[in-house]
Amino acid sequence: MNTAEQVASKRNAGYHAAGTVEDGMVVGLGTGSTVFFAMERLAERIARDGLRIAGVPTSYQAAIRARQYGIPLTSLDEHPVLDIAIDGADQVDPGLTLIKGRGAALLREKCVCDAARKVLIVVDPTKMVDTLDALVPVEVLPFASAAVFRRLALLGAGPVIRDGVKKDGPVVTDNGNFILDCDFGAIADPRDLEAAIAAIPGALECGLFTAYGEKITVIVGEEKGCRVVSL
Ligand code: 5RP
Repeated sequence: MNTAEQVASKRNAGYHAAGTVEDGMVVGLGTGSTVFFAMERLAERIARDGLRIAGVPTSYQAAIRARQYGIPLTSLDEHPVLDIAIDGADQVDPGLTLIKGRGAALLREKCVCDAARKVLIVVDPTKMVDTLDALVPVEVLPFASAAVFRRLALLGAGPVIRDGVKKDGPVVTDNGNFILDCDFGAIADPRDLEAAIAAIPGALECGLFTAYGEKITVIVGEEKGCRVVSL
Protein backbone atom coordinates (compact mmCIF):
# COMPACT_ATOMS: atom_id res chain seq x y z
CA MET A 1 0.00 0.00 0.00
CA ASN A 2 1.40 3.39 -0.96
CA THR A 3 1.32 6.15 1.65
CA ALA A 4 0.38 9.71 0.61
CA GLU A 5 4.08 10.55 0.94
CA GLN A 6 5.05 7.74 -1.45
CA VAL A 7 2.42 8.82 -3.96
CA ALA A 8 3.74 12.40 -3.86
CA SER A 9 7.30 11.08 -4.33
CA LYS A 10 6.27 8.92 -7.27
CA ARG A 11 4.44 11.84 -8.87
CA ASN A 12 7.48 14.11 -8.50
CA ALA A 13 9.79 11.46 -10.00
CA GLY A 14 7.45 10.73 -12.91
CA TYR A 15 6.82 14.39 -13.69
CA HIS A 16 10.54 15.19 -13.58
CA ALA A 17 11.32 12.35 -16.00
CA ALA A 18 8.59 13.42 -18.39
CA GLY A 19 9.96 16.96 -18.31
CA THR A 20 13.24 15.78 -19.85
CA VAL A 21 11.62 14.23 -22.93
CA GLU A 22 12.27 16.26 -26.09
CA ASP A 23 10.21 16.83 -29.20
CA GLY A 24 10.52 14.02 -31.75
CA MET A 25 11.78 11.38 -29.30
CA VAL A 26 10.83 7.73 -29.30
CA VAL A 27 10.25 6.82 -25.66
CA GLY A 28 10.16 3.42 -23.97
CA LEU A 29 7.20 3.34 -21.61
CA GLY A 30 7.75 1.15 -18.56
CA THR A 31 5.13 -0.50 -16.39
CA GLY A 32 3.89 0.36 -12.91
CA SER A 33 2.45 3.14 -10.81
CA THR A 34 5.40 5.56 -10.98
CA VAL A 35 5.59 5.48 -14.78
CA PHE A 36 1.86 6.34 -14.82
CA PHE A 37 2.79 9.78 -13.48
CA ALA A 38 5.37 10.22 -16.24
CA MET A 39 2.72 9.33 -18.80
CA GLU A 40 0.28 11.75 -17.17
CA ARG A 41 2.76 14.60 -17.62
CA LEU A 42 3.69 13.51 -21.17
CA ALA A 43 -0.01 13.56 -22.02
CA GLU A 44 -0.28 17.11 -20.67
CA ARG A 45 2.73 18.20 -22.72
CA ILE A 46 1.26 16.60 -25.85
CA ALA A 47 -2.13 18.27 -25.36
CA ARG A 48 -0.86 21.66 -24.16
CA ASP A 49 2.47 22.19 -25.92
CA GLY A 50 2.08 20.00 -29.01
CA LEU A 51 4.95 17.72 -27.93
CA ARG A 52 5.40 15.06 -30.61
CA ILE A 53 6.62 11.70 -29.33
CA ALA A 54 5.95 8.02 -29.93
CA GLY A 55 5.98 5.48 -27.11
CA VAL A 56 7.02 1.82 -27.07
CA PRO A 57 4.98 0.16 -24.30
CA THR A 58 6.52 -2.60 -22.16
CA SER A 59 3.20 -4.26 -21.29
CA TYR A 60 -0.51 -4.34 -22.02
CA GLN A 61 -0.90 -2.14 -18.95
CA ALA A 62 1.45 0.50 -20.37
CA ALA A 63 -0.19 0.32 -23.81
CA ILE A 64 -3.71 0.69 -22.41
CA ARG A 65 -2.72 3.61 -20.19
CA ALA A 66 -0.81 5.34 -23.00
CA ARG A 67 -3.85 5.07 -25.27
CA GLN A 68 -6.08 6.51 -22.52
CA TYR A 69 -3.64 9.41 -22.27
CA GLY A 70 -3.46 9.97 -26.03
CA ILE A 71 0.23 9.07 -26.27
CA PRO A 72 0.91 7.75 -29.80
CA LEU A 73 2.37 4.26 -29.80
CA THR A 74 4.91 2.52 -31.95
CA SER A 75 6.87 -0.71 -31.63
CA LEU A 76 10.37 -2.03 -31.15
CA ASP A 77 10.08 -3.42 -34.70
CA GLU A 78 9.66 0.13 -36.04
CA HIS A 79 12.27 1.58 -33.66
CA PRO A 80 14.88 -0.94 -32.53
CA VAL A 81 16.82 1.98 -31.00
CA LEU A 82 14.94 4.27 -28.61
CA ASP A 83 15.99 7.77 -27.60
CA ILE A 84 15.02 7.26 -23.99
CA ALA A 85 13.10 4.87 -21.74
CA ILE A 86 11.27 5.70 -18.53
CA ASP A 87 10.63 2.85 -16.13
CA GLY A 88 10.21 2.05 -12.46
CA ALA A 89 12.11 -0.39 -10.23
CA ASP A 90 11.57 -2.45 -7.09
CA GLN A 91 15.08 -1.88 -5.74
CA VAL A 92 18.13 0.16 -6.82
CA ASP A 93 21.61 -0.28 -5.33
CA PRO A 94 24.48 2.26 -5.31
CA GLY A 95 25.94 0.76 -8.53
CA LEU A 96 22.53 1.38 -10.19
CA THR A 97 21.82 -2.31 -10.46
CA LEU A 98 18.08 -2.88 -10.39
CA ILE A 99 15.56 -5.47 -9.38
CA LYS A 100 12.42 -5.17 -11.49
CA GLY A 101 9.40 -7.30 -12.28
CA ARG A 102 6.85 -6.87 -9.49
CA GLY A 103 4.39 -6.24 -12.31
CA ALA A 104 5.62 -9.29 -14.28
CA ALA A 105 6.70 -7.09 -17.20
CA LEU A 106 10.45 -7.68 -16.78
CA LEU A 107 11.08 -9.44 -20.09
CA ARG A 108 9.80 -6.61 -22.28
CA GLU A 109 11.16 -4.05 -19.82
CA LYS A 110 14.66 -5.47 -20.24
CA CYS A 111 14.31 -5.49 -24.05
CA VAL A 112 13.28 -1.82 -23.96
CA CYS A 113 16.03 -0.91 -21.47
CA ASP A 114 18.59 -2.55 -23.71
CA ALA A 115 17.28 -0.75 -26.81
CA ALA A 116 17.28 2.71 -25.22
CA ARG A 117 20.21 5.12 -25.46
CA LYS A 118 19.31 6.56 -22.07
CA VAL A 119 17.18 5.11 -19.26
CA LEU A 120 15.39 7.09 -16.58
CA ILE A 121 14.41 5.01 -13.56
CA VAL A 122 11.70 6.68 -11.51
CA VAL A 123 11.34 5.61 -7.88
CA ASP A 124 10.33 6.74 -4.44
CA PRO A 125 13.04 6.75 -1.73
CA THR A 126 11.96 3.37 -0.27
CA LYS A 127 13.43 1.68 -3.38
CA MET A 128 17.01 2.84 -2.72
CA VAL A 129 19.00 0.17 -0.86
CA ASP A 130 22.62 -0.61 -0.03
CA THR A 131 22.29 -4.29 -0.96
CA LEU A 132 19.68 -5.85 -3.24
CA ASP A 133 17.56 -8.34 -1.30
CA ALA A 134 14.07 -8.24 -2.85
CA LEU A 135 12.50 -11.24 -4.57
CA VAL A 136 13.99 -11.73 -8.03
CA PRO A 137 11.26 -12.65 -10.53
CA VAL A 138 12.21 -15.06 -13.30
CA GLU A 139 10.00 -15.39 -16.38
CA VAL A 140 9.92 -19.05 -17.41
CA LEU A 141 8.68 -21.03 -20.35
CA PRO A 142 5.72 -23.07 -19.02
CA PHE A 143 7.03 -26.17 -20.85
CA ALA A 144 10.24 -26.03 -18.81
CA SER A 145 8.89 -24.60 -15.54
CA ALA A 146 9.53 -27.70 -13.37
CA ALA A 147 13.09 -28.05 -14.71
CA VAL A 148 13.80 -24.32 -14.25
CA PHE A 149 12.28 -24.48 -10.75
CA ARG A 150 14.73 -27.28 -9.87
CA ARG A 151 17.73 -25.40 -11.27
CA LEU A 152 16.79 -22.20 -9.44
CA ALA A 153 16.36 -24.16 -6.20
CA LEU A 154 19.92 -25.49 -6.69
CA LEU A 155 21.07 -21.84 -6.93
CA GLY A 156 19.48 -21.29 -3.49
CA ALA A 157 16.49 -19.33 -4.72
CA GLY A 158 13.58 -20.86 -2.80
CA PRO A 159 11.44 -20.28 -5.91
CA VAL A 160 7.67 -19.84 -5.64
CA ILE A 161 5.40 -19.79 -8.66
CA ARG A 162 3.53 -16.48 -8.73
CA ASP A 163 -0.24 -16.89 -8.50
CA GLY A 164 -2.78 -14.56 -10.04
CA VAL A 165 -4.98 -12.12 -8.20
CA LYS A 166 -8.61 -12.45 -9.36
CA LYS A 167 -7.38 -15.47 -11.36
CA ASP A 168 -6.90 -19.00 -10.06
CA GLY A 169 -3.53 -20.55 -10.73
CA PRO A 170 -0.31 -19.03 -12.02
CA VAL A 171 0.14 -15.54 -13.39
CA VAL A 172 0.46 -15.78 -17.17
CA THR A 173 2.63 -12.95 -18.43
CA ASP A 174 1.94 -10.74 -21.46
CA ASN A 175 4.21 -13.18 -23.31
CA GLY A 176 2.31 -16.31 -22.23
CA ASN A 177 4.86 -17.46 -19.63
CA PHE A 178 4.97 -18.10 -15.85
CA ILE A 179 6.83 -16.17 -13.15
CA LEU A 180 8.94 -17.82 -10.44
CA ASP A 181 9.69 -15.43 -7.56
CA CYS A 182 13.10 -16.25 -6.11
CA ASP A 183 14.28 -15.38 -2.61
CA PHE A 184 18.08 -15.21 -2.67
CA GLY A 185 18.27 -13.06 0.48
CA ALA A 186 20.98 -10.39 0.29
CA ILE A 187 22.58 -10.68 -3.16
CA ALA A 188 26.37 -10.44 -2.87
CA ASP A 189 27.11 -10.53 -6.61
CA PRO A 190 24.10 -9.55 -8.73
CA ARG A 191 26.06 -9.78 -12.00
CA ASP A 192 27.11 -13.39 -11.35
CA LEU A 193 23.59 -14.29 -10.28
CA GLU A 194 22.05 -12.75 -13.41
CA ALA A 195 24.50 -14.73 -15.55
CA ALA A 196 23.77 -17.96 -13.66
CA ILE A 197 20.02 -17.55 -14.17
CA ALA A 198 20.50 -16.64 -17.85
CA ALA A 199 22.36 -19.94 -18.33
CA ILE A 200 19.27 -22.01 -17.43
CA PRO A 201 17.39 -23.16 -20.57
CA GLY A 202 13.74 -22.08 -20.24
CA ALA A 203 14.54 -19.19 -17.87
CA LEU A 204 13.68 -16.47 -20.37
CA GLU A 205 14.73 -13.44 -18.31
CA CYS A 206 15.15 -12.38 -14.72
CA GLY A 207 14.43 -9.14 -12.91
CA LEU A 208 18.09 -8.35 -12.18
CA PHE A 209 19.29 -5.51 -14.42
CA THR A 210 23.07 -5.39 -13.87
CA ALA A 211 24.40 -4.23 -17.24
CA TYR A 212 22.92 -0.76 -17.65
CA GLY A 213 24.33 1.39 -14.84
CA GLU A 214 26.25 3.62 -17.26
CA LYS A 215 23.15 4.72 -19.16
CA ILE A 216 20.75 4.79 -16.21
CA THR A 217 19.78 7.96 -14.39
CA VAL A 218 17.71 7.33 -11.28
CA ILE A 219 15.18 9.99 -10.38
CA VAL A 220 14.30 9.61 -6.73
CA GLY A 221 11.12 11.52 -6.08
CA GLU A 222 10.78 13.04 -2.65
CA GLU A 223 7.81 14.65 -0.96
CA LYS A 224 9.03 17.94 -2.37
CA GLY A 225 11.22 17.75 -5.46
CA CYS A 226 13.62 15.06 -6.68
CA ARG A 227 17.15 13.76 -6.25
CA VAL A 228 18.93 12.71 -9.45
CA VAL A 229 21.48 9.89 -9.21
CA SER A 230 23.87 8.66 -11.91
CA LEU A 231 27.27 6.95 -11.87
C1 5RP B 1 6.96 -3.97 -13.40
C2 5RP B 1 8.09 -3.26 -12.78
C3 5RP B 1 7.81 -1.92 -12.16
O1 5RP B 1 8.45 -0.95 -12.91
C4 5RP B 1 8.28 -1.91 -10.73
O2 5RP B 1 7.64 -2.98 -10.04
C5 5RP B 1 7.98 -0.59 -10.04
O3 5RP B 1 6.61 -0.39 -9.94
P1 5RP B 1 5.98 0.85 -9.17
O4 5RP B 1 6.44 2.07 -9.89
O5 5RP B 1 4.49 0.62 -9.26
O6 5RP B 1 6.48 0.81 -7.75
O7 5RP B 1 9.22 -3.70 -12.78
O8 5RP B 1 7.33 -5.22 -13.90
